[in-house]
Amino acid sequence: MKIDGTHYRSIWRDGDGTVKIIDQRWLPHELRIVSLESRTAFADAIRDMWVRGAPLIGATAAYGVAVQMVADPSDDALTETWRVLHETRPTAINLRWALDEMDRLLRPLPLEARAGAAFARAAEICDEDVETNRRIGQHGLEIIRAIAAKKGGGRVNVLTHCNAGWLATVDWGTATSPIYHAAEAGIDVHVFVDETRPRNQGAQLTAWEMNHHGVSHDLIVDNAGGHLMQHGEVDLCIVGTDRTTAQGDVCNKIGTYLKALAAQANGVPFYVALPSPTIDWTVTDGVREIPIEERAQDEVTRVQGRLPDGKIGWVQISPDGTPARNPAFDVTPAALVTGLITERGVAQASAAGLAALFPEKA
Ligand code: MRU
Repeated sequence: MKIDGTHYRSIWRDGDGTVKIIDQRWLPHELRIVSLESRTAFADAIRDMWVRGAPLIGATAAYGVAVQMVADPSDDALTETWRVLHETRPTAINLRWALDEMDRLLRPLPLEARAGAAFARAAEICDEDVETNRRIGQHGLEIIRAIAAKKGGGRVNVLTHCNAGWLATVDWGTATSPIYHAAEAGIDVHVFVDETRPRNQGAQLTAWEMNHHGVSHDLIVDNAGGHLMQHGEVDLCIVGTDRTTAQGDVCNKIGTYLKALAAQANGVPFYVALPSPTIDWTVTDGVREIPIEERAQDEVTRVQGRLPDGKIGWVQISPDGTPARNPAFDVTPAALVTGLITERGVAQASAAGLAALFPEKA
C-alpha cells in the first residue's frame, strides 16, 4: 500500500539481502523500518509485536527460518528454529502453518540448498498472501456493493475491530481489503474503527491506514459499537481472524465476540475475512481447543502514546499494583457469523460451508 507516494509491504527482502519490516510499535507516530538479522531478532519481533497480525506473523516466521538456514542449515537448527519461533505467540495458526511449510520443504534438501530454497519459499508465501488478500477484497467488495445498492447508493458504514489491515498481512489486509476495494470502486464507504484496547491496534494502526488511504472513518471506543448498531449507524461488521475452525468458529482479537453479539441482536451482518492458512482443520471446538494468548498485565494497566515532551512512552492508568487479566483473543461461535470471506469466495460459517469451498482440506 502507498504511504506518502511510496509503495510498502509490511515485510520484504531488500536489495542487500536483509529482511526488513515496519516496526509497528512506533506507529502512528513514526514510520521506522528495521532489519531482522538473527533467529532471536525474529522471535523478539513476533513476541513483542513489532510485527503482528496472523498472516504477517506467518510470513515473518518463514523469513526467520530462512535467515537461520544461512547461519546453520542443520536438521537440529531447523527443529530448534521451529520451536523457538512457534512459542512466540500461541493463537495465530498462520505461525504454525508457515513453520510447517518451511520444515516440510527444507528437511529433505541437502544442507547447501536449504538457505536458497527457504528464501524463495518465504518470498512466495508473501506473494501468495498479497494475491489471496486481493481476492478476499474482490469477494468482499460484492457484499459492500450489494448493501450500497440497497441503500440507493448511500454511504455504507462498516465497523471493524483491531487491525486486520495491510499491516497485519503482507499487503491489502483481510478485513480492510473489501473496504479498500470498495473505496477504489467509488463506493461511499465509511469505517468505524474500534480502538481495540489494550494495545489499541485500531487507534494506532487501522486509523493510520485509513488516513493514508483517504478512507472516511471515525475512531470509536470499544464500548461504542453496540450503541451505534442499535441506532442503525452500522450496515455491516468485517473483522479478521487469527484462527478459524473447520466448523466456522472464529478466534480474533479480544472484544470481537461482544461485537458479534451486538451485531446479532441488532440484525447487523457480521463477516469475517480470512486467508485459508488461517483455518485450523484440526480443531473442532473453537471455545475449548484454541489456546488463547494471555499477555502481560501492564498492557492493561498502562497505555502507550506520544507524551507531551514528544517522546513515545507508556502512561500508568490504574493504582500501583492493580492486578489485571489480559486475554488477547476470544472466540466467536459460528452461529454469530454471517459469512466467511475467503480467497475462494464467501462461505457459510459452518463445516459444510467451508468444506464446499475447500473440499481438498475437509
Ligand atoms: O495481537 P494482534 O495485533 O496480532 O492481533 C491481530 C488480530 O487480532 C487480527 O484481527 C488478526 O490477526 C487478523 S489479521 C488479518
